[in-house]
Amino acid sequence: MQKLNLCVIIILVVLTSCSQSGKRHKIGVSQCSEDIWREKQNAELRMGAYLQGDVELRFAAAYDSDERQVQQIDSLVATGIDLLIVAPNQVATISPAIDRAFDKGIPVIVFERKTNSQKFTAFISADNYEMGRLMGEYIASQLHGKGRVVEIMGLEGSSPAIERHNGFADALKNFPNIEVVATLQGDWTEESAVKAVKDYQGDLNNIDFVFGQNDRMAMGARIALGTSTIKYCGIDGLPGENGGIQLVRDSLLDASYIYPTHGDQIIDLAIRILEGKPYEKETMMMSALVTRDNAKVLLMESEEIMRQSAHLDQLHRKADGYLHELDTQRVVSWLAIGVVVLLIVIIVLFYLYHLRRITLQKERVVNTLWDMKPLVPSVNQETAVMQEETSDSNQEQEEHDDPAATSLFITRFKEVVEARLDDSDVSVEDLAADMNLSRVQLYRKVKSITDASPVELLRTARLKKAYQMLLTTDKSVSEVAYAVGFTSPSYFTKCFKDEYGKVPGELRSS
Ligand code: FRU
Repeated sequence: MQKLNLCVIIILVVLTSCSQSGKRHKIGVSQCSEDIWREKQNAELRMGAYLQGDVELRFAAAYDSDERQVQQIDSLVATGIDLLIVAPNQVATISPAIDRAFDKGIPVIVFERKTNSQKFTAFISADNYEMGRLMGEYIASQLHGKGRVVEIMGLEGSSPAIERHNGFADALKNFPNIEVVATLQGDWTEESAVKAVKDYQGDLNNIDFVFGQNDRMAMGARIALGTSTIKYCGIDGLPGENGGIQLVRDSLLDASYIYPTHGDQIIDLAIRILEGKPYEKETMMMSALVTRDNAKVLLMESEEIMRQSAHLDQLHRKADGYLHELDTQRVVSWLAIGVVVLLIVIIVLFYLYHLRRITLQKERVVNTLWDMKPLVPSVNQETAVMQEETSDSNQEQEEHDDPAATSLFITRFKEVVEARLDDSDVSVEDLAADMNLSRVQLYRKVKSITDASPVELLRTARLKKAYQMLLTTDKSVSEVAYAVGFTSPSYFTKCFKDEYGKVPGELRSS
């Protein structure tokens, strides 16, 4: 039973180890927020990881909370990631957690937003200062160098907000007749812009242009200030429904700036770092202005790309489905193999057990018949038993269950066999006749008690006698063979070897 348990455990261990498929690279992604821009980027990160294969992404979104992002980074590190991709909510607040990860030897890719620490492996973003500057120049050119503008800034302390503002302000320095009426504080969300405008105490009349540091805030300002003659610009220029490109095409925004997400490019960079290939420490992604002149074309192109990637996505899903099916089939095959192996083990163990039982049985027979002292029966009992031998097989079974009757039978059979040992012509019929039984009755009775046939017992008795003679007399092997009823010394030698594992000569010499 213990052997069986062991086999079952081994099979289960083999099966579980076969079904485990650990990914080679575990990458943590710490996003500062959750919005349509980040959703698009996360989808690209997933696609990039899928195309690379063997990459597991672990996402965390901090919903614009510094504390949450710090905790999430520490937790990601604790789960044993191989690389961290992080967009820090603010410049100063997230650095300690990023430093901790970096100090543990985990490569860090900072993307899109900066920290105030040098502890990172690579940085990838578009140029936020340049985007602010170009937006300033665009607005100034639309206003022919004269007008009133409002700027709505993104989350205080986040690097794109600082850099876009600096670029915008630097651009407007060249246009003294453009007045920045107000620089309002938002936090990248539409609601924050609505609130900033509504809460503003100063004069927002006769505004010509609003620069929202992203499209969502530009639209928030539009909600709060109305649609009259004011023009609105933002940044992000996302494709798709309600993305910046569509808003420009539909004239809800005057312009936007594509702020590239490029999650797949970030994954490529991550894999280069993880696999020790050369990589750029700092990557600036390409970007472009979206105006009414190009919005329609850009939208058409982006819709085409989105259609194609939707097809690709479908294909991937199908491929995933097939892979999953294959995996299942593999597990089923392993299970089937496991069951077959288990069955074979059971059969082998059963066979071994059976062999052992037969050997023990044989030993028991010999002991029972020639070594043990049977109960000494009275003459009457003996006669009664002899008469019973002639009755039917049911009766034989009952007698077999009676130890005294069995013992009597054994004694008698032993006497008959021993009397005939040297008679090479003796048959089972002769033995049966000596015991007043038919051949069939004798066979059944002997078999039921000893599990051996009368012939087998006769041979065992002959060999046992021969064994004693070889040890106690000077007779030659042939003489002993004839003396115990074998007609051929060579057959005797073979039977002797089968029984005792050595030939008669060996017994003698030892
Ligand atoms: C997305 C976002 C964008 C913005 C960027 C600044 O989370 O708010 O709209 O351009 O972050 O980091």
